[in-house]
Amino acid sequence: MNIRRATALDVSELARIERLQPQSAQWGEKGWKTEIIQAASYVFCMEEDKKLIGFAALRLAAGFGEILNVAVHPDYCRRGIGFQLLSRLVQYARSQGGEELTLEVNIYNRAAISLYSKIGFSEIGRREKFYHNKEDALIMGITL
Ligand SMILES: CC(C)(COP(=O)(O)OP(=O)(O)OC[C@H]1O[C@@H](n2cnc3c(N)ncnc32)[C@H](O)[C@@H]1OP(=O)(O)O)[C@@H](O)C(=O)NCCC(=O)NCCS
Repeated sequence: MNIRRATALDVSELARIERLQPQSAQWGEKGWKTEIIQAASYVFCMEEDKKLIGFAALRLAAGFGEILNVAVHPDYCRRGIGFQLLSRLVQYARSQGGEELTLEVNIYNRAAISLYSKIGFSEIGRREKFYHNKEDALIMGITL
């Protein structure tokens, strides 16, 4: 397994994994195509035998970053892949002069909240009825 920067050639695989994990952002191929060419966009993916099995997407500008989308293929969950991907993103953001990262997560998404907490994120706020006009979002942040 290895982690590398994703490119425009990975868009269909990124969208495929995203579809398999409905709690991820659901950008679709079109959204990924737009995202991956942004100057402030950093997408890392995990691959095994040249097959993509997870990703984590960050936007970073002027020292401030936001983690926008994360998913691991269901067959590969609970093997430390999400942790490795996010650790890499945090490390990369730090190396680029990043000072603070934030993200939003559904308060019912226990797996993701637990993962982010393990990386060092903590709650910095909430957005009421952010998802489907029903469920709150937890805003989490980390100082780099
Ligand atoms: C959240 C997600 C990326 C975790 O990926 P993963 O590769 O399975 O995570 P890891 O194996 O690296 O686990 C790291 C930590 O995350 C937490 N975690 C992961 N899956 C969990 C689960 N099902 N239940 C509770 N905690 C979980 C644990 O704290 C775990 O540490 P531990 O193994 O020491 O207990 C994956 O479950 C996923 O793709 N979920 C759907 C998409 C999503 O929710 N994205 C985030 C939207 S904000």
